[in-house]
Amino acid sequence: MPSDPLLQQVLNGVDGTDDRVNEIVSSLISHLHSFVAEVRPTEREWLAGLDFLAETGQRWCGPHRNEFILLSDMLGLTTAVDDVNHAGPEGMTPSSVQGPFHSPAPARELGDWIATGPERERGTPAVVHGRVLGTDGTPVPGALVDVWQADDAGLYDSQDEEQELGNLRALLTAGPDGGYWFRTIRPSSYPVPVDGTAGRLLRAIGRHPMRPAHVHLQVSAPGYRTLTTHVFLAGDPYLDSDAAYAVKPELVREPVRREGPDERWGMDMPFEELEFDVRLVREEAR
Ligand code: BEZ
Ligand code: FE
Repeated sequence: MPSDPLLQQVLNGVDGTDDRVNEIVSSLISHLHSFVAEVRPTEREWLAGLDFLAETGQRWCGPHRNEFILLSDMLGLTTAVDDVNHAGPEGMTPSSVQGPFHSPAPARELGDWIATGPERERGTPAVVHGRVLGTDGTPVPGALVDVWQADDAGLYDSQDEEQELGNLRALLTAGPDGGYWFRTIRPSSYPVPVDGTAGRLLRAIGRHPMRPAHVHLQVSAPGYRTLTTHVFLAGDPYLDSDAAYAVKPELVREPVRREGPDERWGMDMPFEELEFDVRLVREEAR
């Protein structure tokens, strides 16, 4: 029972028909009142905060952008929500944030090149491969493996007029042993979009906007929980300070340098090999 009569009065007014909504709104009200009591914002500061939120919605949200999600990512809240919902049993590959750059990927064959533009000549060739398994090690044949990544300059297709839509993306179907693989280029670390209010906030608090180099994966199969995750490249200077707080040690892999030619992966030049097995949890284990 709060000792603050104003807070108590506001909480008394929460009496909707949905208990969960009542719980969420009451908790939010209590935390915001505590925030005001602790920080004692001036009216100017409070209005600046409200203006910041208004601008976020009015100017930086639309069909192709949701700055609130970016703010949630930049404050570690997306990862916090992910952690409370997707902490899985031992052996499951940890999930991590989806980010704003997921879009429908072209279906490709196992082994296809997913770098189809000029970045293929500029970048470091790479093979990414692994197996989709259950937590007990059983292969998951036919699992859908949706992958997306930035290019060697840190840009996704949707941010770069030089890339065709669908570049550096693929929807793959795992083979009979749960195996998947594709040929690509090494992704680069990159800054999250900083032209909006999330960028302004990062600058105000003196935080850099960089994400360590990674490939995104979203893996689904009947009977298994869909997993959204990343594989991060070991050695990246931003691994310890990811702007999106999405790095987990189990998701970091060391790319192995191969000189080529290499018949197994159809590579006739030097390349990097990145192996990443994905372990899914069964739906009923939820
Ligand atoms: C991304 O990796 O695509 C991303 C994730 C969170 C915020 C911005 C970008
Ligand atoms: Fe990304």
